[in-house]
Amino acid sequence: MGRSTPFYACQSCGAQSRQFFGRCPGCGSWNSLVEQSNPAADGRRRRAAPSPPVDGAAPRARRSEPIQTVGERPLQRLATGFPELDRVLGGGLVPGSLVLVGGDPGIGKSTLLLQSARALAEACSVLYVSAEESAQQVKLRWRRLGPEEGAEGASDQAGLQLLAETDLELVLQELEALRPAVAIIDSIQALHDAELSSAPGSVSQVRDCAAALQRLAKRQDTALLLVGHVTKEGMLAGPKVLEHLVDAVLTFEGDRFASHRLLRAVKNRFGATHELGVFEMRDRGLAEVTNPSELFLGGEGPCAGTATIVACEGTRPLLVDLQALVSTTSYASPRRTATGIGINRLHQILAVLEKHLGLPLSRFDCYLAVAGGLDVEEPAADLGVAAAVVASYRDLTLPAGTVLVGELGLGGQIRSVGQLELRLQESARLGFTRAVVPRGSGLAPVAAALGLELLEAGGVAEALVAALGVDPAAD
Ligand SMILES: Nc1ncnc2c1ncn2[C@@H]1O[C@H](COP(=O)(O)OP(=O)(O)OP(=O)(O)O)[C@@H](O)[C@H]1O
Ligand SMILES: [Mg+2]
Repeated sequence: MGRSTPFYACQSCGAQSRQFFGRCPGCGSWNSLVEQSNPAADGRRRRAAPSPPVDGAAPRARRSEPIQTVGERPLQRLATGFPELDRVLGGGLVPGSLVLVGGDPGIGKSTLLLQSARALAEACSVLYVSAEESAQQVKLRWRRLGPEEGAEGASDQAGLQLLAETDLELVLQELEALRPAVAIIDSIQALHDAELSSAPGSVSQVRDCAAALQRLAKRQDTALLLVGHVTKEGMLAGPKVLEHLVDAVLTFEGDRFASHRLLRAVKNRFGATHELGVFEMRDRGLAEVTNPSELFLGGEGPCAGTATIVACEGTRPLLVDLQALVSTTSYASPRRTATGIGINRLHQILAVLEKHLGLPLSRFDCYLAVAGGLDVEEPAADLGVAAAVVASYRDLTLPAGTVLVGELGLGGQIRSVGQLELRLQESARLGFTRAVVPRGSGLAPVAAALGLELLEAGGVAEALVAALGVDPAAD
């Protein structure tokens, strides 16, 4: 391949080919191949190869050791100033770890990390590398996010260093000189290694910059927080290897029209995944939402077509209102839309209701929405969806204080769900008094202690009769 011969690299898996393909032969993703030039200069920097063993020389000292003799260090996690972020990280930021924070443009990644930097700088040294914004811009945000002028703690912090730089070499030098306990790189896509000819943000640049930063950070025990962009499909931009390289991947998401933001761990080597942190974007930055259930409950009191479910995000139960609207269709095929729940799931539940309760739902439009813009993925919401749809169809209101939890099988049976005890506890804490749950939960004593009326059901018809107090299938 000549120096000027173009080649194509997959932006998703990093595979390279001389020919352009609409679909990557490596990972199968579509339209991910991007032309790169000068592959000769695109390789990793050459390093001195280990010298081959000389015949007759003494064998090299062993490098492995029995696991029992490996020294242990107590894991001293750093508090980020946001207990919600600490929880998603598994109890705080681990020294020497590499964390990738991804999210849509403008969702508040820089805000979250700058506020954390502020809190972390109270206890340890922090370097904030801004590769996207000037030092002045970061300073302005830092002022806005901090306490009011003249208030306690408004004085400038000595522990927070700011570097507005995009050149990887200069960033590495600064990291080596300062040896901070925490370094924040905003963002990894904006950094570039001058030794590579490809553009900043390309696969080889992102991979090389992240690997170089990781080597240095592990050596000097610096915890690294990297901001990562997401593609328009919502995936983290850059090669998949970046996600393998880091210790934790957090995604920051939210509805552009709502002020709350959700932080999730997609991968975590130091804690559980699928933990959820809830924040609210305010004028003076992000604030934690300590009681997120209130955010996702309608608050207007019971009305027709509304049901409350208990969704579980990681170890955190969330009470969420679902609303359904069922009305006679004026189209050849009825309209079905779902916000916050997969449309296929709604189709499936409607089919089960039609078949097992005999409701003629195929002649009705059906709209379903989850309050507060939350995405509920778990099947435990099925029974709630069914109750909301049937309540709207029959123009019924569920008795106040009722929650529903259960997965709906295609045969109309209610399947058990995980973490039911946790869900009941949260329901009782928020003042709910009746819970419709799958049969055989064995939680009657727990419910009695919590003051909850436990209604167990084995099938969808039985569950809806218990929830609504009337038989929805009766004409
Ligand atoms: N002066 C301001 N007053 C109130 N809110 C602001 C102000 N400036 C920014 N914001 C809020 O902060 C959000 C942007 O946050 P931030 O810059 O941290 O996002 P980001 O995820 O880092 O974006 P990018 O991907 O562009 O780097 C805006 O959407 C807005 O809601
Ligand atoms: Mg930013």
